[in-house]
Amino acid sequence: MTEPRHFLSLGQLSKEELSELLDAADAVKAKPSSLGSKLKNKQVALIFEKPSTRTRVSFEAAVNALGGNAVVLRGDELQLGRGETLQDTARVLSRYVDALVVRTFAQDRLERLTEGASIPVINALSDFSHPCQGLADLQTIREKRGALEGVALGYLGDGNNVAHSLMFGGALAGMNVRIASPATHSPSAEVARRANLTAAQSGGSVVVTEVVAEAASGADVLYTDVWASMGQEGSSEARAEALEHYRLDEAAVELAADDVIVMHCLPAHRGEEIEAEVIDGPHSVVWDQAENRLHTQKALLAWLLG
Ligand code: CP
Ligand code: NVA
Repeated sequence: MTEPRHFLSLGQLSKEELSELLDAADAVKAKPSSLGSKLKNKQVALIFEKPSTRTRVSFEAAVNALGGNAVVLRGDELQLGRGETLQDTARVLSRYVDALVVRTFAQDRLERLTEGASIPVINALSDFSHPCQGLADLQTIREKRGALEGVALGYLGDGNNVAHSLMFGGALAGMNVRIASPATHSPSAEVARRANLTAAQSGGSVVVTEVVAEAASGADVLYTDVWASMGQEGSSEARAEALEHYRLDEAAVELAADDVIVMHCLPAHRGEEIEAEVIDGPHSVVWDQAENRLHTQKALLAWLLG
């Protein structure tokens, strides 16, 4: 049997594959019938070990719209909690369904699923990365800025899963990605190293800095995400203290290009990582960005399963 194609990180795509996926997402956005019933007779299991609004509903809607059937499960509804291994779980589910979409904690949990799976496993967010969000982000940036090559993206805040996917995806697309985080909350050095290698091939760049102005000055895109990701709520106070100066506020918008677009993967905490005036202001594209989760995931499912 041929190995299934998994989608665990944007770092696993080629530049051409990324363009194809974004083109397909644009096409299905413009004409929802363009992918027809690509998932006819296909079953997709969606497993959530963490909460979700956008990912869960947009995946379920995408599967249904393409004529497939979604089975949505919380992690604690499976036998995993009673000691069944991830490999065995994936082996069994591969006999029933055609793909697994999984939101979990450590990236290693996804890798263990792929060890047992004979069907595609899609990362619907892990502590390490959020590639489905990254795809929608790139679709949104391309839509709003007309291209990805050479676009300057300044990310302010926690160097988390969303930052990692922007680094991988932005590097692949030839963007100039600049991440500003305090040293205590900077993105993984290994991600920065790998993203830089990719950027060198595609004509982009990836810079990690502690200086907000280095990321925000002249930026075409400003991006932020929550200070405490799911599973980190216990350290919220310390995180807020460390990240206080990395808020996406009016001052950051002032430093950026006049027509900067403001992005946030959501859920947002107004007054924490982003000022209400900014997320609800004229530069914000967060609702279009959230909508694009649906289109990019349709394209992704059709690509992996159609
Ligand atoms: N952006 C995102 O993944 O949102 P949810 O956590 O609501 O799925
Ligand atoms: N970094 C956030 C993203 C939520 C979509 C988290 O992991 O909670």
